[in-house]
Formats: sequence, structure tokens, C-alpha cells
Amino acid sequence: MKLIFLVPFLIISLCAMKGPLTAGEAPKGILIIPMPGEITVLNGTFVMNGKTSIQAGQDILVKAEQLRAYLSPASGYMLPINKIISGENLIELKLSNELSSLGEEGYKLNITNQKVLITAYKITGIFWGIQTLRQLFPNEILREAEVAGVTWMIPCVNIVDKPRFKWRGLMIDYSRTFWNTRHTKKYIDAMAFYKMNRLHMHLTDDQGWRLQIDKYPELTAKASKFDTIYHEPKEREGFYSKDDIRELVRYAAAKNIEIIPEIEMPGHTSEVLSVFPGLSCTGELVSIHPNGKGKVNAKEFCAGKEETFTLLQNVLSEVIELFPSKYVHIGGDECDKARWEKCPFDQKRIKDEGLKDENELQSWFVRRIEKFINSKGKKLIGWDEISQGGLSKSATVMFWRGGKEKIVLDAVNQGNDVIMTPTSHLYFDYPYGGKYTDYPYNGISTERVYAYEPCSGILKNVNPEHILGVQANFWSHIDRTEPRMDRQIFPRLLSLAEVGWTESKNRNWDNFSLRLKHQYKSLDFLNIYYMDTNN
Ligand code: ACM
Repeated sequence: MKLIFLVPFLIISLCAMKGPLTAGEAPKGILIIPMPGEITVLNGTFVMNGKTSIQAGQDILVKAEQLRAYLSPASGYMLPINKIISGENLIELKLSNELSSLGEEGYKLNITNQKVLITAYKITGIFWGIQTLRQLFPNEILREAEVAGVTWMIPCVNIVDKPRFKWRGLMIDYSRTFWNTRHTKKYIDAMAFYKMNRLHMHLTDDQGWRLQIDKYPELTAKASKFDTIYHEPKEREGFYSKDDIRELVRYAAAKNIEIIPEIEMPGHTSEVLSVFPGLSCTGELVSIHPNGKGKVNAKEFCAGKEETFTLLQNVLSEVIELFPSKYVHIGGDECDKARWEKCPFDQKRIKDEGLKDENELQSWFVRRIEKFINSKGKKLIGWDEISQGGLSKSATVMFWRGGKEKIVLDAVNQGNDVIMTPTSHLYFDYPYGGKYTDYPYNGISTERVYAYEPCSGILKNVNPEHILGVQANFWSHIDRTEPRMDRQIFPRLLSLAEVGWTESKNRNWDNFSLRLKHQYKSLDFLNIYYMDTNN
């Protein structure tokens, strides 16, 4: 065995102590991200070897198989399931109704010399326990081919763990740049490893429509491509077929990740108007061009035309059928209302519906779409502008305009759920740099993300039940290649993973930095590029 693999365990042995530790004072040998709630480090180690087997009930056999698929390739061990050789060591997965206080996602992990036991109230928790177990092994466990010369040794510990927030997300913008299935699966794998559970796919925007819609094949035929005059590399355009999405949804669900589709409206829709110009106020010709290039024409639907709603409801019907998530995100941000002010159709709508102005027209638009979405059994999410002109009581707000936290306060006080994705900390297309104390910010460092506290400032006493969680947003107009995108997102996503999972009292930047260095090697094995910096 190489000494390098012994070092963490020597440190653990030195630190072995009785009683639970909080994460902030976690021993150096525990290099997990996100840090679990409660850890007791015991003396001794468990060594996975050629005689280790897995045991699991029929109800979670699928997780036993997943565990074997995670551990076998690098170790080369067969890890038979439910074929116990008595006296040899064992990894057992078990559901227990007694753990209901840990919720859907919580789990316990108990490791002794002879046995690893993961128990949880629900199968979701079993999967997160498996991720913790993977992280306790040398990071080479992530390799896809057998690695010689590693002793697969883990420390004896007792862990009790559950997440702080339900929603721990990442939004990827597929419109400005298309990202293919392989790349998306790589992100799903990495997110799962760090216990993140929501992938928000921004599938439509001014720069391209990225989802097959059977009723309107023109959308992908025309609006998934950039105009040839811009000489965009081919890999930046394209779209997801319905079969691609079904495959991604299945792949993600097996890793506790829910995929939430976003279909933008009423603004950021020039790609639709390039196909159906009649749906804008002016009916003018609209072109699709890479962000920052070309002339910007009409960008929003006309809210006065019934044809707008016919198209959107037909599209949403197909989206709802395709994605099992209970949420549909309808965008709602940055709608330029100047054309609505001059449009006879919109002005007639305002008059007929007794609305005060264009803000109320937007609110009316969103409520009409929400009613449709609700009628299909789904819930609406929108960017925080859906509060302009009056927020529906049942919509979920995705807060993004950092500095305007009053929007969150008002929404929560009205009883709405909110997901926190502020520009001030969680916009991962923004550059690195800057200290976390800088404000207004001139960059978002990994440390600044780590320091993010959603329930602070005017939100300190807000009802935490309505803060569903946190999410990073990656807009793909600037960083448009895989290495560049990866480096924008990693390692900042690891900071966010801990913000979303670990109670704030247990967060500690110095301790996290140590664990982060260890995790760089995991990112290497997950084929992820990252910014190797703590700044
Ligand atoms: C946004 O960044 N416009 C949601």
C-alpha cells in the first residue's frame, strides 16, 4: 500500500475520540463534501477486499446493484449481492421506519472493522449514504478501470446526516450554447457525488430552441441553429429529442436528481418569433444570432394575441408529458414591455381585463399560464419578475436579482415558496475573484459562494419552510466550451453543495478548504476541469 493512502487514516487514528463532532471541528482525515451533520470517528478501519459482499432487501436491491457498479470497476472486486460468506466483511443497505426523523433524504452510516451499514427511512437516503461511503474511500474509487496497488480502506465512523435544504440545484443554459447528453450526464454524475438534487434545464431563449416539440417541428428545424453568417462551431447548436430527454430523466432519477424544464415566456423568445413572427406585437422579421452579435428585434410574445397562448399551451402540454417533475419553469424574466405599450392588441387586453398597466398584463399572462399548468397537475416556477404586477399565491419564485431581497421577504410573507439563486453569490458565469466581503461584488470566489447564507440580512427571520433551497445558474453566452464551462462551475459548485446540505453552524471555510483540495482529485476522476484556486 502506498503511504499516501495511509496518511488520512493515521490522522484519523490520532484524532479518534468519543462523542459526536460538529463539522466545523471535523478531523482532518474526513474529507467529505458536503460535510455531514454528525460524525463520530472510532478506532479502526474497514477494508474492502475480494471477499466483501453486499446485502440488501428486495425493496432496495436496485441500490445494491448501483453500489456494486460504483465500487467494482476500480477495485476489481465482484461484490456479490445477498450471497453472504459468513465471517467475511459486509456492506449492508437497510430501510428503517425508525429513521423517519431523518426525512426522505437523511441516512445513517455506521462503519466497523467488519461491516458497513447504511440505513435510511427512504431509498433516497440510502443513495446519499452510498455517496458518503464513496467519498470515504481513496478517490481512485471513482476510476472506471481497475487500479492496482490501492488498499480500499475506510475509517470506522458513525455518521448521522440529512440535508438543510430540499432544493440544491444547478441551472444550465442550453440555449446560448447547446450541451449534449454526454456532457449533461457528466454533470449529473458530479452533482450526485456532492448530493445535489435539481438540474434546471434552460431549454429555450433568444439564441436557440433546444427541445423537440412534435406539434411544431419548425421550432427545432429552424430555431436550434445559428445563422450561418456567424460561423458558429456546429457543436454549439442542436436540440434534445424526446428520447434523449427520457434517457436523461431516467439517468438523473437513478441518482436522486430531478430535472426541471424551463420554457421562457413572455420575454427572451426571439428564437420562437424567428419561426412564428406573427406572435410578436410588430410581426417583424427576427433573426437568431449568438449573444451580443446581430440586431436585436422583437423579443417578447404579444400578450394580446390568442395565438400566443395556443402555441404555449400546446408546447407546455408536450413538456408536461415528457418531464415527470412536479414543476415547470416558465422564465418570466427581463420582459421588455415597450412594445406592449404601443401594441393595440396588448392595450385592448389591458382594457378588457381591467388591468392597470403592462406590469399587470405580465402578471395576468403568468397567471393564465399557471392556471393551465395547474390544470395538468404541475406547479409553476418563474424568475422573480413574476412578482411584478402582483404575484400569484401558488407560484414558486426563483430569486435572482441579488440586492433585491425584499422581493423574497414579500413573497414568503405572502406564503410563496422561493428558491435562492442570487447574482451576488450564485451566478457561475460571473468571473472568479474578489473577497467574499466585497460588495458590490467584483467577482464570485469559491469562498464567497461558501459564505452565502440564504436566511440573512432582511431574511434572517423569514419562515425557513418557504425557502426551498439554493441553486447556481450558469448562463452560456461567454464560456462556450466544455473546459471553460467546467471551470466556471467547479469548484464553486462544491461550495454550494455544502451551503445547500450542511447546517450553517457546521460550516467552516478553513476546514472546507482542506477537503476541497482532496476533492480536486475526485474532480479529475470525474473528468471535470476546475479552477485550481481558493480565491
Ligand atoms: C436572469 O438572469 N435573467 C434570470
